[in-house]
Amino acid sequence: MIFRQLFDHESSTYTYLLAERSGGEALLIDPVHERVDQYLKLIEEMDLKLVLAVDTHIHADHVTGLGRLRSASRCATAMGEQSEADCVSLRLKEGDTLNADGLKLQALYTPGHTDDSYSFRMDDRVFTGDTLLIRGTGRTDFQNGDPGDQYDSLFGKLLTLPDDTLVYPAHDYDGRTSSSIGEERRHNPRLQVASRQAYIDQMNALELDPPKKMDLAVPANRRCGLEQAA
Ligand SMILES: [Fe+2]
Repeated sequence: MIFRQLFDHESSTYTYLLAERSGGEALLIDPVHERVDQYLKLIEEMDLKLVLAVDTHIHADHVTGLGRLRSASRCATAMGEQSEADCVSLRLKEGDTLNADGLKLQALYTPGHTDDSYSFRMDDRVFTGDTLLIRGTGRTDFQNGDPGDQYDSLFGKLLTLPDDTLVYPAHDYDGRTSSSIGEERRHNPRLQVASRQAYIDQMNALELDPPKKMDLAVPANRRCGLEQAA
């Protein structure tokens, strides 16, 4: 398998390039608008054909690369059916499978950070978007976020995966690249709660500044990033 974890340092976003083999089909998870040329160059160098670009949710901190990638490569684009993005060619729901050659990504609906948040499970790993971060969880205070839903997504879905499942989030702000479900269950401070209500209270007590690019990114991302201001 080909697996590349790519990083946008401005937004601390991880983008994942996946393919079964050189010469075959590829897919991208959470591409960043400004990095599209880099992705396309890498895909060409690795003799891959991009067939799908997917966002885990409507991002508030960066503009998505979905629209530019679709224009450049004619790849399919996918987001959850709950998403306000009106520009994607595939709208996912719980249990759907995304394919690229023999690769299969299973869609898990994991709302809470936003109401359109999805995670994607593939074999020994799970791409958790902003639902489960390394030693953290995504904020729940805008974009129809809901801490109770997030608790259910975490404790009812992601933490029921095997302990050795690798965790690949959409962001990290401290240089960490991956974790595992068991590691997060034991050491993620947000997950050390006795009840659903305790989790809700914990999230509601956070006082966070809005993301720097929110006013630009959210409207642009409803259009797959194609109509951002110059
Ligand atoms: Fe997010």
